[in-house]
Amino acid sequence: MKIGICNDHAGVEYKNAIIAMLSAKGIEMVNFGTDTTDAIDYADIAHPLANAVEKGEVDLGIALCGTGNGMAMTLNHHKGIRAGLAWDEEIGALVKQHNNANVLVMPARFISCEKALSIVNTWLGEEFQGGRHERRIAKIPVQE
Ligand code: RB5
Repeated sequence: MKIGICNDHAGVEYKNAIIAMLSAKGIEMVNFGTDTTDAIDYADIAHPLANAVEKGEVDLGIALCGTGNGMAMTLNHHKGIRAGLAWDEEIGALVKQHNNANVLVMPARFISCEKALSIVNTWLGEEFQGGRHERRIAKIPVQE
C-alpha cells in the first residue's frame, strides 16, 4: 500500500503525524505537501497528488488545508479523483462506504491532530459498499 499526502501551510503538523503513524504500520508514504508554515497556494500542491493517484503511482491520497475546501475543490476537478471532506470518524467511514473516496480531505484548522489520525484510521479500515452506491458514483462525472 502506497499513500500520497499533500498539505498547505495549515496542515504541516498534521501531515507529519499522519506520515509517522502510517509509516509505522508499514504503509509507504509519498509527501507532496509543504514542510514549512510559509504560505503557499493549495492548488499547487493538490494537482500533483491528484495526478499521482490518477496514474496509479499511489493507491490513495490524503489532503489537508485549513478548511479542506480548497484541496477538495481542486482535487475534484480531476476525472479520476473522488475527494471527500471528513471532519469526524463517521463521515470518514461513510465517505469510503458510500462515495469510495480515493482521497480523504480534512480541515486542519477545525479538528485536532488526534481527530485527524483517528479519521484516517477509520477511512482506511472501511470498504466501499458498492451496489446502489456504485450506480451513484458512476453518475458523478459530467455527462457530455
Ligand atoms: C489558507 O489560509 C487557507 O485558505 C487554506 O488552507 C484553505 O483553508 C483553503 O481552502
